[in-house]
Amino acid sequence: MNLSLIKKLSLVLLLFVSAASIAQTRSTTSFNSNWKFYLGNATDAMSPNFGDASWKTLALPHDWSIELPFDSTSPTGTGGGALRGGLGWYRKTFTIPATSKGKKVFIDFDGVYMNSEVFINGHSLGVRPNGFMSFRYDLTHYLHYGNEKNVIAVKVDNSKQPNSRWYSGSGIYRNVWLTTVNHIFVGQWGTHVSTPQVNDQSAKVVLTTTINNAKAENGTVVVRTSLYDAASKVVSTSSSNIAVPQNGTTNATQQFTIAKPNLWSVDRPYLYKAVTQIVENGKVIDEYTTNFGVRYFNFDVDKGFFLNGKHLKIRGVCDHHDLGCLGTAINTSALERQLQILKDMGCNGIRTSHNPPAPELLELCDKMGFVVMDEAFDMWKKEKNPYDYHLYWDEWHKKDLTDQILRDRNHPSVFIWSVGNEIMEQWDKDADTLGAGILRELVGIVKSLDNSRPTVTANNEPGHNNALLRANAADLIGYNYHHKDWDSAIIKWYRKPFIVTESVSALQTRGHYDMPSDSIRRWPSQWDKPLTDANADLTCSAYENCATPWGSTHEETLKVVEKFDHVSGMFIWTGFDYIGEPTPYPWPARSSYFGIIDLAGFPKDAYYLYQSVWTNKPVLHILPHWNWKPGQTIDVWAYYNNADEVELFVNGKSLGVKKKTGNDLHVMWRTTFVPGTLKAVSRKNGKVVLTKEVRTAGAPAKITLQLDRKAIKAGEDLAFVTVRIEDKDGNLVPDAANDVQFKLSGGASIAGVDNGCQTSMESFKADHRKAFNGLCLAVIKAAKAGKVTLTATSRGLSSAVVRIDVK
Ligand code: GAL
Repeated sequence: MNLSLIKKLSLVLLLFVSAASIAQTRSTTSFNSNWKFYLGNATDAMSPNFGDASWKTLALPHDWSIELPFDSTSPTGTGGGALRGGLGWYRKTFTIPATSKGKKVFIDFDGVYMNSEVFINGHSLGVRPNGFMSFRYDLTHYLHYGNEKNVIAVKVDNSKQPNSRWYSGSGIYRNVWLTTVNHIFVGQWGTHVSTPQVNDQSAKVVLTTTINNAKAENGTVVVRTSLYDAASKVVSTSSSNIAVPQNGTTNATQQFTIAKPNLWSVDRPYLYKAVTQIVENGKVIDEYTTNFGVRYFNFDVDKGFFLNGKHLKIRGVCDHHDLGCLGTAINTSALERQLQILKDMGCNGIRTSHNPPAPELLELCDKMGFVVMDEAFDMWKKEKNPYDYHLYWDEWHKKDLTDQILRDRNHPSVFIWSVGNEIMEQWDKDADTLGAGILRELVGIVKSLDNSRPTVTANNEPGHNNALLRANAADLIGYNYHHKDWDSAIIKWYRKPFIVTESVSALQTRGHYDMPSDSIRRWPSQWDKPLTDANADLTCSAYENCATPWGSTHEETLKVVEKFDHVSGMFIWTGFDYIGEPTPYPWPARSSYFGIIDLAGFPKDAYYLYQSVWTNKPVLHILPHWNWKPGQTIDVWAYYNNADEVELFVNGKSLGVKKKTGNDLHVMWRTTFVPGTLKAVSRKNGKVVLTKEVRTAGAPAKITLQLDRKAIKAGEDLAFVTVRIEDKDGNLVPDAANDVQFKLSGGASIAGVDNGCQTSMESFKADHRKAFNGLCLAVIKAAKAGKVTLTATSRGLSSAVVRIDVK
């Protein structure tokens, strides 16, 4: 179709649309405010007349576990972050306008951890064991309209522990929505968009819309869809007459062509939207928007991943769902901050380990340009923990996986469906065993709903004995770790594209350095063995010298990934530290050491390693800090790019020029510490590219504050304030642990505090925080518009003030 024809059609459609009157269509409103919460069981709390006046009033999303103290006796164990689960109740009293009578009213939960049961006016609507899937209930038949009150009660049972290998959080930790629609409406996750043929000249777009008719009479509607480009210009339209049977459902499939499409890519994540209107008797009775991208891709056995015909190495990270001091309570600005930090590192991929993510994560990945591996399960029928999802497998896995695919399949950022991580059924004895059967079933479910993306399992058993690999049912071969086997005959034998579903698992504490830097400590695989050379303060060195036996240093794995074309890419364990799984240490360690970035969002040194390899922006990063004992032997490392060499100076005296040779990813000088200034200069063709200095810091003298954004929106937005403890000359004091007190004016409050220390027992919900290795973080939220002032003070230090605009 040529452009002028499209223009004409758009005009016709526009006229047509304005001719049809717009009845009130659907409304989707946040249902987060004014909930009552009680931690504990309460008899009869589902009944409408139950007295909840003494319960706490709060707004969702809410994670009750993050507010509890760390506890060595918590049944979640340190694996679960030593924060307790428990059972809690939520209640919300609300009215529904009389104008909604005759309409359908649904409540949509994006995720409740776990084992929720929802009641409306005393009637149970159902249970959902899976803590990560989104679900909807139809409230219509039980509602009162007008001034009469309704009560929703939600019982959340996270008391049976352990049920997760990492911190799960507890409660209604994602958003809740109230959706009201007319009697004929687009169903939940009711569109499926695909782009089966795409090239630079044109894209074919197929949209299938599921239309429900809640009336006891057959209906006929017009389904009218317009595709809009990012500038809100209509680029294609379609209109069809559809009969919808009484109390039934029908699918309407429409086809479109977009001329000269703007392709979605990680560098230019271009989004279109399809706006679908349901018209009955000339009235628009529903309108449903589907965001989508136009792109094509393939995984090649020998050459790896191609996006829009261009080779792209997937340079991804795995992340769990907690947001540090916010716990698991979803927040879009917190997620956006994480993704921006990763983007700046050169990361282009996210694995939602090991569960379906919050919808907002996928929306952000669509907008910001990440390749997502969307994962379903951490276990199938065989358990990893006594109370984990294996208990619900038989009854729920079909529904949970189906809902995940239906919910997520329109996101252009989703490229791979992972149906399981390190599944115990890998070790079933032969290919016809239980595990192989389950894999075939899961792949079948995925393919029946989305044939456009490959499936994978993340395997930690790399051999031919792996029952899931032998079943040969998934599209990609996925390995966790085993970087020495990535070029082996075993993977090549399958003749299927290869992806590293998980890698590295290096262990680091931000700002802590053990010498010598080139002697790698690998922690024993038997955790019950005493850790003979453990650091007494439970730190791990931030050089590349602390690793797990199953993983590697960052550099080891990075070299292999970048070297082999057939390795489509990898997902590093992990982008950010997370709460729980503090391998290799016992209590009081309570959060992980695996992140390239710590729990507070402060990069460890490895961040700059990746940045130097994965980006073109000039990088020169030196480590460690420059506060040591005089006479101590210190290894100085530099990560750099865009230069031929780096020269290092101590107090103006050159320690020599170093160049990366072969496949080196850093250079190193071994020297004897003298206080003063460490200065590195990178040069290309003799010209200075970058200079970096680290000075020996004196005593802590002042606080400085850095704001990640100048303005936030009242309500959900958050501002992240980095607090630095500096000496009088502005040098970061690398071991500073001063307790910083926060005070806010202007009706703002603290959403959380942290410092990235894996063993801190301080609460994340406080108005003060000790610095750890010189840094801490305060997260600010504001209820109303205006100017907010944050003042940070600490005994003996000059204080600091920062202003935040709240819009
Ligand atoms: C992997 C597992 C991850 C995490 C990681 C720690 O085997 O898939 O969930 O436990 O080990 O190294």
